[in-house]
Amino acid sequence: MNSDQLKRIEQLKKEKNAIILAHNYEPPEIQDAADIIGDSLELAVKAQSVTEDTIVLCGVRFMAETAKVLNPEKTVILPAKDAGCPLADFLTPEMVREARSAHPGAAVVLYVNSDTAAKAEADIVCTSANAVEVVRSLKEKTVLFGPDSNLADYVASQLPEKTIIPLPPEGHCYVHAKFSCDDVIAAAEMGCTTICHPECPREVRNGADVVASTGGMVKMAENADSWMLLTEKGIAYRLQKLFPEKEFHVREDAVCDDMKKISLDMLEQALITGEYAVELPADLMERARGPIERMIALQR
Ligand code: 13P
Ligand code: SF4
Repeated sequence: MNSDQLKRIEQLKKEKNAIILAHNYEPPEIQDAADIIGDSLELAVKAQSVTEDTIVLCGVRFMAETAKVLNPEKTVILPAKDAGCPLADFLTPEMVREARSAHPGAAVVLYVNSDTAAKAEADIVCTSANAVEVVRSLKEKTVLFGPDSNLADYVASQLPEKTIIPLPPEGHCYVHAKFSCDDVIAAAEMGCTTICHPECPREVRNGADVVASTGGMVKMAENADSWMLLTEKGIAYRLQKLFPEKEFHVREDAVCDDMKKISLDMLEQALITGEYAVELPADLMERARGPIERMIALQR
């Protein structure tokens, strides 16, 4: 660990009145430099209450844009300009509008892993931590849910009284789509308790002991001694630090390339130069804010 660099980052944070928020999948050195680490919901909720003028969001673009939409008066910086989310790319705002007119009367729930322009077309946003709760809260029986078809399927399995239509049917995360029954069987042979992210395919969710968001994995870690984490491998660093006496196993190839784009050098540069500040049209932010705030209001 470069402690001189961490000290410089600390100093820069004070000078710029900045706070660093990082997602659970970020590399170890970024997690170590962060003030707050969390899942998508925790980061969105925290972004709403920070007092600093600048939020440096170490994660992917939709997370930084969500923070900006909730804090239009603040500077929100994404240190790696091109850190995107291939799952979010499955859905365009036009697709949401078309699906809405094909299914009049259906509610539109969009996963936070979506573009701001798509969120602006939604009734409400959700994350993997609250997707079931969000859909349950709606009066509509039919729900258009995108862009993750696996999360849509998970919600449908928990709420049989609802008709969930995945939008689009093929939307998925390439990292979580790698997992199969073989991973569940291997975990059982190792004597591990298996926890999987709801973005995993149905066969994995059905075989796992627990299905949870990355924040849920942190909350549940104390319940077993040896875990198989069927999600992006970055979460293991956080869990191992929090629970040094426990074992956390991951698949070494379960890597989200976009979550690994920010280095400590980029973080330091971001604090020095203010790059790359998220810029979004005011009217777009206005339209996307309602669906995001409706989700956050449900948490209260
Ligand atoms: P969480 O909200 O569970 O952290 O998930 C975010 C994500 O991108 C999963 O791939
Ligand atoms: Fe997107 Fe998957 Fe990466 Fe999460 S792990 S940010 S869903 S590509």
